[in-house]
Amino acid sequence: MATSPRDPAWLRSGAPHVWRPYCQHQTAPTPLAVVGAHGSRLVLADGRELVDGVASWWTAAHGYNHPHIAARVEEQLRRLPHVAFGGLANEPAYALAERLAALLAPLSRVFFVESGSVSVEVALKMAVQSFHNRGEPRRRRIVCFENAYHGDTLATMALSDPVSGMHHAFAGMGIDAIHLPVPRADDGGAFEEAFRSVAGEVAGVVIEPLVQCAGGMRFHEPETLQRLRHACDEHGVWLIFDEIATGFFRTGARFALDAAGVVPDIVTIGKALTGGTLPLAAVVASEAVFACFLSEQADRALQHGPTYMGNALACAAAHGSLDLFERGDFAARVARLEALLRGRLGALRTRGLPPAAAAPPCGRRLRHAAAHDRRARHESTARRHRRRSRGVRHELGGRLDWAAGDSVRLRRRREGYASRPSFARLHQRVNHRSSPRRGREPAPCAGRQPVRFITAGGGAVVAPSRSRPMRSATPSR
Ligand SMILES: Cc1ncc(COP(=O)(O)O)c(C=O)c1O
Repeated sequence: MATSPRDPAWLRSGAPHVWRPYCQHQTAPTPLAVVGAHGSRLVLADGRELVDGVASWWTAAHGYNHPHIAARVEEQLRRLPHVAFGGLANEPAYALAERLAALLAPLSRVFFVESGSVSVEVALKMAVQSFHNRGEPRRRRIVCFENAYHGDTLATMALSDPVSGMHHAFAGMGIDAIHLPVPRADDGGAFEEAFRSVAGEVAGVVIEPLVQCAGGMRFHEPETLQRLRHACDEHGVWLIFDEIATGFFRTGARFALDAAGVVPDIVTIGKALTGGTLPLAAVVASEAVFACFLSEQADRALQHGPTYMGNALACAAAHGSLDLFERGDFAARVARLEALLRGRLGALRTRGLPPAAAAPPCGRRLRHAAAHDRRARHESTARRHRRRSRGVRHELGGRLDWAAGDSVRLRRRREGYASRPSFARLHQRVNHRSSPRRGREPAPCAGRQPVRFITAGGGAVVAPSRSRPMRSATPSR
């Protein structure tokens, strides 16, 4: 078999057998062969080095191959790589639980899993089963938000945005989710009104705090989270923060909940937890949630237990990562980076972005920017397309990254799609437990060209249009 440095033998012989993530294999180019990594760089088989701006889907927070994490993992590997968590205990996992509880106090109970999606699944199971255990089995619906992304498993797909998300083939499966717009300062209390009408059936409210990352880096204010906290308290519903993407200083503070000053009942963390070395995520719950599972009856225990739960190697890696977060004065580093980016991105002002210095903080800043940056985004998308056709670019793009989000938004604008569902329509959807469009003829979508997405590892791929009309053809719950 003829090989080139760009396509080493292992890539050629393995490629016919590997099913890649989010990949349209019929059209996707061969992935880049990575043979090493250091700092922020990936080393390719042909000797080229690329800066991985996506940090392996937001995990490699300390850079690749950090010697401290490697040392902790190596040391653990020699002693005990793994032992089942049921009825057995390992030191790295127990010490990590204590450490995470200290970081997330007053949340105190840590449940380990292997991926972010599964951690959200477990959080949902905690919410639903807690009410079941309390004799309120009717409370099993979950409130979530437009543009959300919480993972790829069946229940987490149901939580992700049915319009801009990528899971419409699975609509109606999984959990009974109610999608609401993220509460905004100017919604006149519409969120509370909509929530009140369903709260008696709701077990939990799930949100990515401060930033909806995969759904297009959409920011909201801390006040939004305070409103959610208040509404959940009023109706006795658990508030769940999905900090898988926002955790570990990605919003400036260690966790977005710190920045917002809001304590949820359950939080999920993952990604940078191990600094991008080994798969590990965790669900951290309050004692009030945990107490719902205490009983003389065995079946009231939380019904979950993955084989690799509390894997000792992954927990050792997490200790290494937490050491670095603690040592490195990360908050100051993030602030320095923020200042640097503000300075360097100042050039974008000429393309319609608001002056960084005058920009209000966080959500307001982003919304303000969103109102001004259409032309700039349009231009940058056109440039992306040009560069994409030239070859190496965006190969490392994240799932539903900026570019993909832009494609969808731009397409909607170009084709004049209706705006997002209004609260009035939402009320209808919420109260009828189904889409108000159920039973209607699907709106015309035939003949539409598929949207082009930029996905990880594969450059451009083609996916079916995720437009509103497609959703109308699939009744939601
Ligand atoms: C907010 C959020 N939740 C859940 C997930 C799913 O995590 P994983 O890919 O580890 O299953 C992601 C992944 O991007 C995410 O951004």
